[in-house]
Amino acid sequence: MKKRNFSRRAFLQGGAAAAAGGLLLTRTVMLDAQPLSGIPQAVAPSDRVRFGMIGIGMQGSGLLGGAITIPGVECVGAADLYDGRHTLAKEITANPSLPTTRHYQELLDRKDIDCIVAAVPDHWHKRVVVDACNAGKDIYCEKPMSHTVADGFAMVEAAQKNNRIVQIGSQRVSSVLCAKAHDMYHDGAIGDVEMVELTLGRNDPTGAWEYPPPPDLSPQTLDWDTWLNDAPKIPFNNLHFARWRCWRAYGTGVAGDLMVHLLSGMMVTLGWNEIPRSAIALGGIYRWKDGRDMPDLHTVLFDYHGIPVYVRLGLGTETPELARFMGPKGILDAGEFDLKYSPQAGVDMDPSYYTFSFPAKMREEYVKQWHAEHDPVLGKEPVREDVVYRGHDWDDMRPHLQTFFRAVKSRKPVVEDAVFGNNAAVACHMANESYFRQKPVTWDAASKTVKS
Ligand SMILES: NC(=O)c1ccc[n+]([C@@H]2O[C@H](COP(=O)([O-])OP(=O)(O)OC[C@H]3O[C@@H](n4cnc5c(N)ncnc54)[C@H](O)[C@@H]3O)[C@@H](O)[C@H]2O)c1
Repeated sequence: MKKRNFSRRAFLQGGAAAAAGGLLLTRTVMLDAQPLSGIPQAVAPSDRVRFGMIGIGMQGSGLLGGAITIPGVECVGAADLYDGRHTLAKEITANPSLPTTRHYQELLDRKDIDCIVAAVPDHWHKRVVVDACNAGKDIYCEKPMSHTVADGFAMVEAAQKNNRIVQIGSQRVSSVLCAKAHDMYHDGAIGDVEMVELTLGRNDPTGAWEYPPPPDLSPQTLDWDTWLNDAPKIPFNNLHFARWRCWRAYGTGVAGDLMVHLLSGMMVTLGWNEIPRSAIALGGIYRWKDGRDMPDLHTVLFDYHGIPVYVRLGLGTETPELARFMGPKGILDAGEFDLKYSPQAGVDMDPSYYTFSFPAKMREEYVKQWHAEHDPVLGKEPVREDVVYRGHDWDDMRPHLQTFFRAVKSRKPVVEDAVFGNNAAVACHMANESYFRQKPVTWDAASKTVKS
């Protein structure tokens, strides 16, 4: 993970450019990074938050490494089905005696463990979260919350029935950039949002999930049958283990892998917490014909209570990750490191070009009158100022982990709880259902199902 620290300072940066009817300025403002504080470091051992880690793979290793840098937080056990990751957990924690196991239930049974951080493949999320809640443990579970629509509702029920803190892992939800976008939107920066565009493109094998399996992976070092969970039983396959995102039996495609982050950030920015009314998707496997069954290009148009949300995700051409919020007063562009606000006046800056269809004399008079009524007073020309807010990487997991650990102590609810996580995940399932059914789909709240 990239780590950056910014101190509060705002400054005017270069750029002044002439624009029609006025001056265009660009100002850059540095946002404070969230300090990793709140849980004092010098606390009695009894006041620390002790967590057990389930899944120490690509994401889990980052979460584990990040979590143990948070003051007052301690990892006291780790579970993984692949033994190589027991070694990795001990290396990350620099604790050769860290208890490790293939059986996560052992962590859930331990009384000295306050909560769980889980980074297992999507087809394991429901079981781990439901088991953790039923065992009385709070849990941070990676995104997308669920592998199926039914899974998500079972997880919400388990969280509510057991009164557990469940936080889902779309980390940008806890970023300073997302908070700033939320405040600006609710202060009326762009007016009422009329359309949202969420886009992201990659163009390399790693971006397309063609990860190299660990060289020593075998049925001896991995509990393959358990790893499969409720997926179809197939012989040991190291590619399915490392590249599970490529197959629907284990993953949720680019929708659950990438779109869910964009949707979660959008929901926080706009203050939405709902399932879209409908989704219509187009896509296919255009580039990575490696046996996968999930699309590598997925475009979706959602209807969120009448607001169109267009999503474009592709693994064939690299494009920046961007959430664009559009309203009558301008645009908010949210990216990984910055948020750009481009205000728009929404008025004509010169007489309409429609007047070229007037006969010459009529046009002349109209234009003269228009300028008399609209031209700014000399020296008081309008200045349009774009503002770029630069902030700590919205992909840093530590602020989101800290939100969770604080909630474990305070018992105060988190933003990205099971209901929020479920709403975001159901949208991803609708995108996948529309793609596979090759039809528009709608959400049926009464039956909690996706209909064609
Ligand atoms: N928030 C993010 O930015 C982000 C980034 C990457 C991945 N993720 C999410 O994290 C999760 C894990 O992804 P990954 O790339 O780390 O996968 P991975 O395959 O690299 O690691 C998953 C690990 O979980 C272990 N595992 C599976 N079932 C288990 C079980 N029942 N008990 C114990 N261990 C088990 C596997 O052995 C493996 O080591 C996914 O849900 C993914 O979507 C989130």
